[in-house]
Amino acid sequence: MPSHSASYAEHIKILQARTLEAIQRESIDGLIIHSGQGKVMFLDDNYYPYTVNPQFKAWLPIVDNPCCWLVVNGTDKPKLIFYRPEDFWHKVPPEPTEFWVEHFDIVYLKQANAVEKHLPYDKIKYAYVGEYIEVARALGFEIINPDRVLNYLHWQRAYKTDYELECMRQANVIAVGAHRAAKAAFYDQKSEFDINNAYLRAARQGDNDVPYNNIIALNENASILHYMQTNTDAPADFRTFLIDAGASYHGYAADITRTYCAKSHEFTDMIKALDALTIKLGDKLKPGVSYVEIQIAAHTGIAQILQDFGVVNLSAQDCVEQQITQTFFPHGVGHFLGLQVHDVAGHAADDRGTPNPPPEEHPFLRCTRTIEAKQVFTIEPGLYFIDSLLTKLKGSEQSKYINWNVIDEFKPFGGIRIEDNIIVHRERNENMTRELGLESD
Ligand code: GLY
Ligand code: MN
Ligand code: MN
Repeated sequence: MPSHSASYAEHIKILQARTLEAIQRESIDGLIIHSGQGKVMFLDDNYYPYTVNPQFKAWLPIVDNPCCWLVVNGTDKPKLIFYRPEDFWHKVPPEPTEFWVEHFDIVYLKQANAVEKHLPYDKIKYAYVGEYIEVARALGFEIINPDRVLNYLHWQRAYKTDYELECMRQANVIAVGAHRAAKAAFYDQKSEFDINNAYLRAARQGDNDVPYNNIIALNENASILHYMQTNTDAPADFRTFLIDAGASYHGYAADITRTYCAKSHEFTDMIKALDALTIKLGDKLKPGVSYVEIQIAAHTGIAQILQDFGVVNLSAQDCVEQQITQTFFPHGVGHFLGLQVHDVAGHAADDRGTPNPPPEEHPFLRCTRTIEAKQVFTIEPGLYFIDSLLTKLKGSEQSKYINWNVIDEFKPFGGIRIEDNIIVHRERNENMTRELGLESD
């Protein structure tokens, strides 16, 4: 585990400066950031899994203790109101001693509803930042999640501090180790369910610890973009394994995809071709380039693969012009990565939150920003044989450009996605996933 003490001090300094700017823009005295609270299921007495407010975990790695609060104004030492109830039903967290404690004035809260005495008396000039609007109103806040503040903080979150980069590298270390375990389970012919368990066991993370639901898809299931099931039965025939799975470290996410093929078939070469495209697209991430250009380059690359493998009977360029690639690659080429797996402000034109939506032809592209140093992206082109989209294509004028017999050959393999996590530095890129040696075969 890396030691974070030096980089974390700098991280706090940067968050203080961002906070000061944000509250000056709003003409307020400070922010009260609520970690969140437990949510009871409808007509039940069980709780939904708890997810911390990302604006809270930006400050410190407390991700599993609801009912905590931060009082920050960018100048004074941040105050942490740390929830330690008297509770014999649940585990009560110990008084914290980790590397971050010296940066906070910590007070302890025994009863969640007794927080008021720790908050500023006059709340008119403070903004509540959190999910629980009714709690904020009951406490007397009038300014709740103000746009000017959030837009500014979200915009700034695209520029990772050195501490954040350390966390994201560590999330990649955990995820890469788990990807290796999952790959071995696939070649051992385990079911999706058992492969998922092998992944989580290796990551030492549970379903609620990983940053998003793992996608563990065998054979045709690889064509379902967000396949969330885990079939407990192993299939009779093992062809494809598509795994999109991440890990968390101090609240920061990894988001990695690999696709493997257990057959000797042209599909294996198609995986290699898509892998080469992923690397090429990653190399295009450079300060000053629009992320939209990477999306367009991905379509050109997919068109070339479709041509090379005889899926289409027209040139790559014509394939793009005829918008055929959208059938095989219907999602965006990637997104910001950080405290959230799809990190915020990908569609912002500036720190005031002016919208910069994706081009009409690429509605699912999650980032339209100009690439800059200290940003972290995923690059994740895909090539799928999706029934519903193929049926639509078959009924269209473009059907004549498709070699449908070739499609039939590839369809049982489902699809391919390969996803790396890349830090853009001023002079070079750092592909965290590749530098850990996670290859694609
Ligand atoms: N795992 C979600 C994504 O790749 O964006
Ligand atoms: Mn992913
Ligand atoms: Mn992703």
